[in-house]
Amino acid sequence: MPNDFLSFFLSWMSAPRRVGAIAPSGAALADLITREITATTGPVLELGPGTGAFTYKLIKRGVRQQDLTLIEYGSDFMKLLQMRFPGARVLWMDAGRITTERLYDGAPVGAVVSGLPLLNMSTRKVVSIIGGAFRYVRPGGAFYQFTYGMSCPVPRPVLDRLGLRAKLMDRALLNVPPAAVYKLTRRPQMKIVTGSPQASTPVTPELMHPERGYIAAP
Ligand SMILES: C[S@@+](CC[C@H](N)C(=O)[O-])C[C@H]1O[C@@H](n2cnc3c(N)ncnc32)[C@H](O)[C@@H]1O
Repeated sequence: MPNDFLSFFLSWMSAPRRVGAIAPSGAALADLITREITATTGPVLELGPGTGAFTYKLIKRGVRQQDLTLIEYGSDFMKLLQMRFPGARVLWMDAGRITTERLYDGAPVGAVVSGLPLLNMSTRKVVSIIGGAFRYVRPGGAFYQFTYGMSCPVPRPVLDRLGLRAKLMDRALLNVPPAAVYKLTRRPQMKIVTGSPQASTPVTPELMHPERGYIAAP
């Protein structure tokens, strides 16, 4: 891993809210956020890769560059990523637009790894990014997000609205500053049978009316 501290710091000076950190993530955090990803995960979507701290680790874990899509909004970082990972698809775009761009045919993605500073974004944008990313995630796939905050950076109403659950994987106390990684997955669907078999509809438990058993508007 090259030492990117200075270039990262200069980027942060010019756009502190977008960059969201004064230094690239360290090895402990890169290890943790990629811990469950292997050569068999398939396509991986990385949001806000910066200088590639997580990207290097993903490749080390066996993800092929051809299976990597990197979405980065900073033009300086984007050029660096193109140079460092010539086999990956590097897109210079706002991750908030993944809902409108068609990044994949269908939903082949096994994992989304995000270094985006979600706490600096509006709720609306967080919904577009996470909801948009899950459109490409295959059943059983997950979205990994780190935060410097004390709790999950995706608020509970957003998780409810998107039918997701979040689990704290662990904390990387050796990172500067210490960080935590959350794993977001789809809530299990269950079938509600109301009368005839045709009326059976898969819903997430959170969308059920507690007494009447129908689906509340999300
Ligand atoms: C906290 S840094 C993390 C960088 C890298 N993943 C790491 O851990 O070292 C956040 C990154 O997200 C990028 N970013 C912020 N907002 C973005 C957006 N809307 N779309 C795409 N990238 C964004 C920043 O340019 C920066 O590279």
